[in-house]
Amino acid sequence: MKDPARFRTEAVEKLGREVPGKAIIAASGGIDSTVAALLCQEALGERARALFVDTGLLRAGEVERVSEFFRASHLDFRVLPAADRFLGALDGVTDPEEKRRRIGTAFIRLFEEEADAFGTDRLVQGTIAPDWIESGGSLRDTIKTHHNVGGLPKDSRLKVVEPLRDLYKDEVRLLAAHLGVPSPDRQPFPGPGLAVRVAGPVTAERVARARTANAIVEEEVDRAIRDGRLARPWQYFAVLLPVRSVGVLGDNRMVGEAVSVRIVESIDAMTATAMHPSAELLRTVAERITRELAGQVTRVLYDITDKPPATIEWE
Ligand code: XMP
Repeated sequence: MKDPARFRTEAVEKLGREVPGKAIIAASGGIDSTVAALLCQEALGERARALFVDTGLLRAGEVERVSEFFRASHLDFRVLPAADRFLGALDGVTDPEEKRRRIGTAFIRLFEEEADAFGTDRLVQGTIAPDWIESGGSLRDTIKTHHNVGGLPKDSRLKVVEPLRDLYKDEVRLLAAHLGVPSPDRQPFPGPGLAVRVAGPVTAERVARARTANAIVEEEVDRAIRDGRLARPWQYFAVLLPVRSVGVLGDNRMVGEAVSVRIVESIDAMTATAMHPSAELLRTVAERITRELAGQVTRVLYDITDKPPATIEWE
């Protein structure tokens, strides 16, 4: 995509042809689905409804931030509270692919109900090229099933519409800037949310722990970017590991879990390089995580692995 204005005109025309009636939009608040939602608003007007699912697996402050943007955009926008549904679907599941499948199914069942209520069978998603490339297909191995691609149940009656299917992230960011989306260079957040940053069992308590650790990493890295101490990474986050390790709290021995911090640079997420932030930044992050999660997390590790051989997210 060389020219965002031209892509926009063509995408709006194509959406008009592909969606004769109404459509619901799966809006996660990320750049991809926000751009897809704005293109739909332009193509369909009141025939489009954006749905934001509060899965209980979101980052701190995310519902408020996303709601504020969409309310100001005058799109028909609704928040669907569904934490119990998603945590219930993940009960007892530890396999990463199974987590993704269950989350994909929970999303699609909820969207089917909402599509019925709105009177449509069209679901617009912000899928971009790396999502389906890494989700496999006839020519490729499945690296991981992105929830908005391979996680969809085969029996779904919804027809998926993907206006950004052939774009890469840098192209979507250009388009986002052209459409006036705030902070088009903000870091991506995976559709399955904190579920893939909680290695092992996904319980409300462990998700809350991962949420706190992620907020600390974001705050400290954002501060370092603002102060000119760190170039803006592609992604920066924390992963809660199901590892028990011994620590001390006051005079007492205690056993807690471990948190891995990941800060990577990348162009398009197909490959990534682990960054080497200052020792001071890492020490601050480790000190805050072990203090704010005292009694729960006893150890903070820094992940120095590139992609490949690792992937960006742990699961
Ligand atoms: P990996 O972990 O495969 O991730 O190196 C590549 C990029 O994709 C993001 N990611 C996802 N995005 N749905 C999404 O929309 C997903 O299921 C998903 N899984 C990973 C990841 O954060 C990174 O930017």
